[in-house]
Amino acid sequence: MTSWYNACDKAAAIIRESIPVHYRSRTFPGIIGDIKVLSSKKALSLISRKKGLGKQYAWLYLTQGIDQGRGYQACAVEALDSVLGTHREEIIHGRILDTGCAVGVTAGILSLDHIVGFDLFPDLLKAARLTDSFTGTENLYTAADMTHDWPFDCVFDTVVCGMVCHHLKNQKDVVTFFRNANRVLRPGGSLVVTLPAGSVAFAGQMENIIDGLAEFGFQANRKYSGLVLSVDDPRSLFWMFLVVARKVSDTAGRTFISPEFGFPDYRTPVTREQKGEKARLTSTTSRKIKHERFELVDSDMLCKRYGEKTFIFSELSTKNIEE
Ligand SMILES: C[S@@+](CC[C@H](N)C(=O)[O-])C[C@H]1O[C@@H](n2cnc3c(N)ncnc32)[C@H](O)[C@@H]1O
Repeated sequence: MTSWYNACDKAAAIIRESIPVHYRSRTFPGIIGDIKVLSSKKALSLISRKKGLGKQYAWLYLTQGIDQGRGYQACAVEALDSVLGTHREEIIHGRILDTGCAVGVTAGILSLDHIVGFDLFPDLLKAARLTDSFTGTENLYTAADMTHDWPFDCVFDTVVCGMVCHHLKNQKDVVTFFRNANRVLRPGGSLVVTLPAGSVAFAGQMENIIDGLAEFGFQANRKYSGLVLSVDDPRSLFWMFLVVARKVSDTAGRTFISPEFGFPDYRTPVTREQKGEKARLTSTTSRKIKHERFELVDSDMLCKRYGEKTFIFSELSTKNIEE
């Protein structure tokens, strides 16, 4: 049986062959940047019209996003696994739905089988199926838009949203997302949300997320919700945010939530020169680093450590951020 990381390498080599030469120079941040600014309908139309661009996206995901565990996306799932520790199987259990699953990152790294995953882009799902064919895993992947009603009636025990919610562009999409997450979960089921470094600005904002989820019938587990930091290499830093919650009631048709509950991009504007400098640093140091030890600063500690209104991003981004 091939390990999932090796399966990604094998799948990437196969996909690379079929990417038209003129898309091979498209970068990972470039394609993700386009997707982030466009509505989901326009993003899907862009990727489907430009035949081969979706394959380039899948190839970049498998190589730079995964990169044998060194990529940001892969590192996020390893960090999740590490901080949940022995409780992981209690929290991520039973019938699992992976929203915005990309190339099957969560299932691949956590060695989950028979999960259901969906994503907007069919090329990512094809790549997920290809990697599964090397590992012998039988996950079910389907194309769907998380900003419309999800095409599932079944009752899941766990909904995983790994690095996905920051793609929700407005309050309507946020409401659709969490109403659907509540609808497809059985009572008592788990919701596991990870968010990238730039999507939570202030320690106090974690409280807004916890309060906002309560409006959708979820009760956050404060012990497993907070800031996750890598602690093993002073030369570079990985960080993300984690919310673990349980469905305690139905959403009761909620259509409006407080404006504080959202996932805006708080990253400070980066100049072209800074981007170039970061790319150089990334290629020379941090890309060679695989983070292995992580710390969870839980939601109660977060405010004590950083203060409610401190801009966490500036506190942490003096180090070489890997994203
Ligand atoms: C940063 S990636 C995270 C992927 C994966 N969950 C992981 O942990 O690496 C965000 C994913 O959300 C997907 N996505 C973005 N907008 C979407 C939408 N409207 N519906 C479904 N998936 C979407 C993207 O295609 C991408 O695969």
